[in-house]
Amino acid sequence: MGNKENTAGFENKVINWYPGHMTKTRRRMKECLPLVDAVVELIDARIPISSQNPEMKEMTGNKPRLILLNKADLADERVTSQWIQALKNDHCRALAVDCKSGRGLNKVLPSIREILADQINLWEQKGMKGKAIHVMVVGIPNVGKSSFINKMIKGSRAKAEDRPGVTRGNQWFSLEDGTLLLDTPGILWPKFEDAKVGLHLAFIGSIRDQILDIEELSCELLSILKAEYPDRLCERFKCQQEDLPEDCYDLLQFVGRKRGMLLRGNEVNTERAATMVLDEYRGGKFGKISLEVPEK
Ligand code: G4P
Repeated sequence: MGNKENTAGFENKVINWYPGHMTKTRRRMKECLPLVDAVVELIDARIPISSQNPEMKEMTGNKPRLILLNKADLADERVTSQWIQALKNDHCRALAVDCKSGRGLNKVLPSIREILADQINLWEQKGMKGKAIHVMVVGIPNVGKSSFINKMIKGSRAKAEDRPGVTRGNQWFSLEDGTLLLDTPGILWPKFEDAKVGLHLAFIGSIRDQILDIEELSCELLSILKAEYPDRLCERFKCQQEDLPEDCYDLLQFVGRKRGMLLRGNEVNTERAATMVLDEYRGGKFGKISLEVPEK
């Protein structure tokens, strides 16, 4: 993958995270697959590889797919454009969206029609003009699925319904143009084989901080920011590039001190500093930053 390199210590850690309901979710998705025409997969524009469930492709079969690079407001626009090109193929389109503001969502339905053009033609030939398009919405937890569905149904006569023939609990939402969206619970995969995947998911807040060492995590993030976006660090902490310490723990202490996060004896409260760095990154305070770039 085209991960930007990080420099300190997480390489050998593999995060295991396998809540019981994942198996049930997976089974439900397989059951619903024959009912849908296309799949909309939300991924995080800042980490398009790590936020894409590697099992999803296998689970959703050969269904035409639309990939939404969500939270594009937090990602580097230049890198996001590269991803849109890289992800595009005959059965797949990609769009940059921001489900918080709704930016880019007006292109979603036309893009779904585009990837289903052959199918729609076939329906018309068979006298089924205007047949409702059924779309399954998938994505890992916290990627913005609820925000997406809420924005899509807002202002339209959307309604939630349990449809016959579908396992109870699967929610369908009908949009004004007749398209039906099927919500699925966020699903992650059992094991992050590549430690960077776990790390990147933790940066964006998709893994509970309680199960991670917050200082180590923050040190990793700081070393990436220093390597890839040093100007943003300097801007945020009001310093020059040559002021930034080499070692990432020293860097954590440096930013903590800059913010006056001190304990008795003038020692830096590194735990507070670590939380501040992660919160500010997640809140987009360092500007638009992408942590993964497509391979050339
Ligand atoms: P999920 O259903 O996939 O689990 O995700 P959900 O929609 O609940 O979104 C998770 C968080 O991501 C929410 O923030 C939501 O507002 C935010 N979010 C969703 N789409 C975007 C986007 O395009 N840009 C940005 N910047 N944020 C987005 P939260 O803090 O958990 O909730 P809230 O305080 O915003 O309500």
